[in-house]
Amino acid sequence: MPEDSAPEAAAHEDSAHEDSAPEASAPEASAPEDSIDLDLMLDLSTPWCLRVAATLRLPEHIAAGHSDIGELAAVAGCDQDALHAVLGHLASQGVFTEESSGRFSCNRAAELLAESRFIDLNGIGGRMAHTWGTLLDYVRTGQPAYQQVFGRPFWEDLAAHPKIAADFDALMGPAGHGVPDFDIELSGGWDPIRTIVDVGGGTGAMLASLLRRHPQVRGILVDLPGTVARAGELIESFGVADRVTVEGQNFFDPLPAGADLYLLKSVLNDWPDEQTVAILRRCAEAARPEGRIVVLGGVSPDETSRSLGIDMLVAGGKTSTLTQFTELARRAGLEVAGAGTQSSGRFVVECRTAK
Ligand SMILES: C[S@@+](CC[C@H](N)C(=O)[O-])C[C@H]1O[C@@H](n2cnc3c(N)ncnc32)[C@H](O)[C@@H]1O
Repeated sequence: MPEDSAPEAAAHEDSAHEDSAPEASAPEASAPEDSIDLDLMLDLSTPWCLRVAATLRLPEHIAAGHSDIGELAAVAGCDQDALHAVLGHLASQGVFTEESSGRFSCNRAAELLAESRFIDLNGIGGRMAHTWGTLLDYVRTGQPAYQQVFGRPFWEDLAAHPKIAADFDALMGPAGHGVPDFDIELSGGWDPIRTIVDVGGGTGAMLASLLRRHPQVRGILVDLPGTVARAGELIESFGVADRVTVEGQNFFDPLPAGADLYLLKSVLNDWPDEQTVAILRRCAEAARPEGRIVVLGGVSPDETSRSLGIDMLVAGGKTSTLTQFTELARRAGLEVAGAGTQSSGRFVVECRTAK
């Protein structure tokens, strides 16, 4: 906007002046905060307009020929003036083009919006978007305030809404987080490994990917019944279905026993300490005496700076430092046998049952 560009122009003039004026103080190296646009960071209108446009399928309606605002409001079931304001705002930000007053077309950004999954406000994206509104309560109490908005704690809410649960599973899987196309480096290598239990393994992408790399290994996918029921197609597509069994169960109950490796990927970051100890204890109880428990996610190197994740707000999850985790593992009857950032870029912790 013109008001913003005026101070920038003045700044350029100043630096030109410095070049020809040796007595002026030397130009200071710009600090990272100089490039921060706080107004842009504070803007809530654009993120919400984008989500509303996606939820109303505006790119699809416009692409189908409903370009006039009256027609678009009718087909999307909206108030015409309010819809016009939303689209006008997005067009001013470069998403959609207002060809003439009240006539819109899709540009590349609008097409990308149509392709974006998990931002529909009626799906898991809406759950997460609204949860950010509970941040103040979360920070004050350290407890998730999700149920204030949705009436139930997160996992109970998913259980009560199977479509949202299916959307969450898809977000965790290849359509959302992508295919986990990396190996886990184990102390002593994979040769001794014959069985893996992927605890809270979602719809099985990581397990299937590991089994494809390691043909001697069989796997058991453990997750909630609704989630494992959605795993079949993915496991088939990896060509490993003959080596996978699924167990729809609560991972706070006893786990399939006697496996060589219990994998916890992106699970412990969803839980506070007591539940983390309980899950680890189930793994410790089930593992063979020389079995191992491998953790990805929920543990970070001691020197890592703190950061905020939506898993903390929705479910009260936590990422422990390695020192904190070592104590939680000890309480669960495990000892940390190794930890480090692997060639995949992931921080991986390997535990063994305590002697
Ligand atoms: C963040 S997802 C991670 C999924 C998968 N490991 C991955 O890396 O994509 C957490 C998983 O824990 C599962 N889960 C949550 N509570 C559970 C419980 N009580 N028993 C079994 N699985 C549970 C969820 O269904 C979900 O698949």
